[in-house]
Amino acid sequence: MIRFALNGRSTEVAAPSGRRLSDVLREDLGLTGTKVGCNAGDCGACTILLDGEQVCACLVSLGQVEGREVTTVEGLSPDGMLSGLQQSFHRHGAAQCGICTPGMVMAAASLLRRNHRPSQAEVEDALGGVLCRCTGYRKIVEAVLDVTPAPAPKPPRVGTAVGARLSKLDGLAKITGSERFGADAFPADCLWLRAIRSPHASAGFTLDSFKALRRRHPGLALVLTAADVPDNGFGIYPDIKDQPVLAQGLVRYRGEAVLALVGDRVTVEGIADNEIPITWDPRPPVTEIEAALAPGAPVLHASHPDNVLIRGLVKKGALETGLAQAAVRASTAIETSWVEHAYIEPEAGYARRAGERIEIFACTQTPYMDRDEVAHVMRFDPARIRIIPSACGGGFGGKLDLSLQPLIALAAWKLDRPVRCTYSRPESMRSTTKRHPARIRAEAACDQEGRLLAFGMEADFNTGAYASWGPTVANRVPVHATGPYKVPHVLARSRAIFTNGPPAGAFRGFGVPQVAVAHEALMDDLAEAIGMDRLEFRHLNALRAGDETATGQRLTASAGLARCLEALRRPWRRALGDVETINRTGGALKRGVGIGCMWYGIGNTSLPNPSAMRVGISREGKLTLYSGAVDIGQGSNTIMVQICADALGLPVGAFRLVTGDTDRTLDAGKTSASRQAFVSGNAAKAAGEDLRRQLLRMANMGEGAKLELGEGRVLLKEAGRRKTIELGKLEPAGPEGDVLTGEGRFDPPTTALDKEGQGVPYATYGFAAQMAEVEVDCELGSCKVLRIVAAHDVGKAINPTQVEGQIHGGIAQGLGFALMEEYVPGVSENLHDYLIPTVGDLPEIEVIIVEDAEPLGPYGAKGIGEPALIPTAPAILGAIRHATGARIARLPATPERVLAAIAAEGEGRTK
Ligand code: FES
Ligand code: FES
Repeated sequence: MIRFALNGRSTEVAAPSGRRLSDVLREDLGLTGTKVGCNAGDCGACTILLDGEQVCACLVSLGQVEGREVTTVEGLSPDGMLSGLQQSFHRHGAAQCGICTPGMVMAAASLLRRNHRPSQAEVEDALGGVLCRCTGYRKIVEAVLDVTPAPAPKPPRVGTAVGARLSKLDGLAKITGSERFGADAFPADCLWLRAIRSPHASAGFTLDSFKALRRRHPGLALVLTAADVPDNGFGIYPDIKDQPVLAQGLVRYRGEAVLALVGDRVTVEGIADNEIPITWDPRPPVTEIEAALAPGAPVLHASHPDNVLIRGLVKKGALETGLAQAAVRASTAIETSWVEHAYIEPEAGYARRAGERIEIFACTQTPYMDRDEVAHVMRFDPARIRIIPSACGGGFGGKLDLSLQPLIALAAWKLDRPVRCTYSRPESMRSTTKRHPARIRAEAACDQEGRLLAFGMEADFNTGAYASWGPTVANRVPVHATGPYKVPHVLARSRAIFTNGPPAGAFRGFGVPQVAVAHEALMDDLAEAIGMDRLEFRHLNALRAGDETATGQRLTASAGLARCLEALRRPWRRALGDVETINRTGGALKRGVGIGCMWYGIGNTSLPNPSAMRVGISREGKLTLYSGAVDIGQGSNTIMVQICADALGLPVGAFRLVTGDTDRTLDAGKTSASRQAFVSGNAAKAAGEDLRRQLLRMANMGEGAKLELGEGRVLLKEAGRRKTIELGKLEPAGPEGDVLTGEGRFDPPTTALDKEGQGVPYATYGFAAQMAEVEVDCELGSCKVLRIVAAHDVGKAINPTQVEGQIHGGIAQGLGFALMEEYVPGVSENLHDYLIPTVGDLPEIEVIIVEDAEPLGPYGAKGIGEPALIPTAPAILGAIRHATGARIARLPATPERVLAAIAAEGEGRTK
């Protein structure tokens, strides 16, 4: 029996003293506010206070807390009243997905106990052990520096919710730790599932009998193998179901699941890997693009004998003609690495059987696709699957593919017992999708005045062992190849190539971040060659309304790149001047300024992309938005209500939300491709307008009528007339018991691309320009990003605080992509060896929001999720080059690569 004070109360726990405190808090004491992201002391999500000092609860054993004082996030607001620190987090929008938030709050609380007025450096020091993958840390630091009693901001007046800095409607649960992520809720009688995965990137295998294993471990209830999977293939595309749920005799990447053990948790976790009766026959893996394309290379899938999954093409004009007319030409070749999503919440959830149906509670970005895929695997009608999304502790594209869902569903179905699973950090990193490594060669040419004439690109993407989102990347890349510039002659080709790497999938940008590195390097080269300022070169060539893109699409509105660049002019010129002065002092530290631009098509590429939303009003006068758009931290829960409230003409405070449950919402599509604000936002607007129309019709009022909600009634006023609709007298309809419902639907107008890639792939595009100031240590090769100014055309900022948060977070991921992130299977499969930016890596960030309204968007909005990341790496790499002359050909720009590039540049100059 271990005794200690927990959140001010004496507590006794009868458990082995060697157990992790995080596990005891969560599993035995139900305090799931303490999150677990790694179980290794790397992420800090489990930060608690031990005698007032921050510690990682996953590194503290139960025995160590005997007689001591433990404070968890639940202890900060014991009576439901938020602490000043928590209020500040809420006010500043410091929580996005919220999985890191309890750890951040506890680390900050520890600091504030000893230091009431910390400096920014002290705050950053105190938060240095807690990783956040969403926020870019800036708003968290602001929140900790601003813990002052402040009145709650007034809710926006009716009709002014769009554009208001409304705090997240689901924010309090994230800040108090009461939010339920995938591992936080499960039925008491759940069994535990653990997948056994391949240690080899390529191997055959045979399974022997499991009888002896089951005899040795009576708590083992089930061993799932490929033979148990009715249709053992899944995948994003209806015609490419190439990934097995459980491999059958052959594995194609390290981390592929071959079987699953199900039973009580102690038993399942206690079975050693070498007890599994499996015989491996390892084969030499093909891990690089070059090797996979070589004549005679092993074939990954018989359906693709050349290992090429798919090719993409955009052809406009005649590249050779454009090149021949040019005064100046430039070419580049870049390579990028595998990049891991590194969301702090590993995949987790449970499934249970409900009669002839299966219910799955798990983290996801795409409940309806999960429903259909699990139904496909189980050979069920989709109506027999219910997906109830948990809160999603970060996704960034990595939770668009199935992970544990089919495994827990199959096990729960077979055993008729609820089954849960939580991936370990290494398992999550090994088994799930990555950003595609790219090998890009590109050239561009312009006339003497700097006008672009031609652009050519050959881009190969390592798509790993299975297709996943490879076709999406291959199709999106050529469309975006030129960057946001008008070019008359274009030839852009892409290929997605199978290897024995992890499946490469969706990751914030679908290949465009890699391509942007190439086109922005070329813009710098051309500008330099004709002696033009790099920003002005881009401004001259920027796509504007009225221009035609490389796919022949005429942009009619909302193409705000030129405005973004104009907004950067002053900071750009000032920074160039500052850097010149500083560099004159000599020494190993050199400063540079770089600029990166981007455009990004919002939503699917030339594919239907519909979203539907419903809003209902109950007899009591309560409004509910039933939204199938999963909020993965980006804030769609809040902005959907803001949009719907203004469309309906009622206050945001009158709404409650039902999100993602496939039994209770309409299909709003996946949370990806930066589409929710534009596509689902339009659907939420249309749903609000539909309900408003019904109320106006019932009261016989005109468009301009004002609505007010009372208890059980709606009051309508227009030109001195008043009318009341008594909701209590209306008959409830449907399972939710609403008396009236409005529905809305939107599908962006696009067309298919023809065989030369001509058409209208997207209804609208986001545009942006970012500039970075970077200091390079020319002796060590290390780079420190000092400042970023980011100007983004978002059409309309539905919630400016959230837009800023997305930009901060995108910049953090872009910085990681540029300077440090490189996933190597078998080497960097944890958050110790795989580096993501910490609070100390983030520079000062200035955000400039440009609103070039999109006529098709809800109140003019487009999207910001992916655009936020894309220009960052090009801006940083441009700054390194400006500082040192070094061209970085391989990302990330680690110190060795920077030093090698500086040396190569020096040799070039000598020659
Ligand atoms: S879970 Fe404890 S540090 Fe990551
Ligand atoms: S808000 Fe920090 S990890 Fe998502």
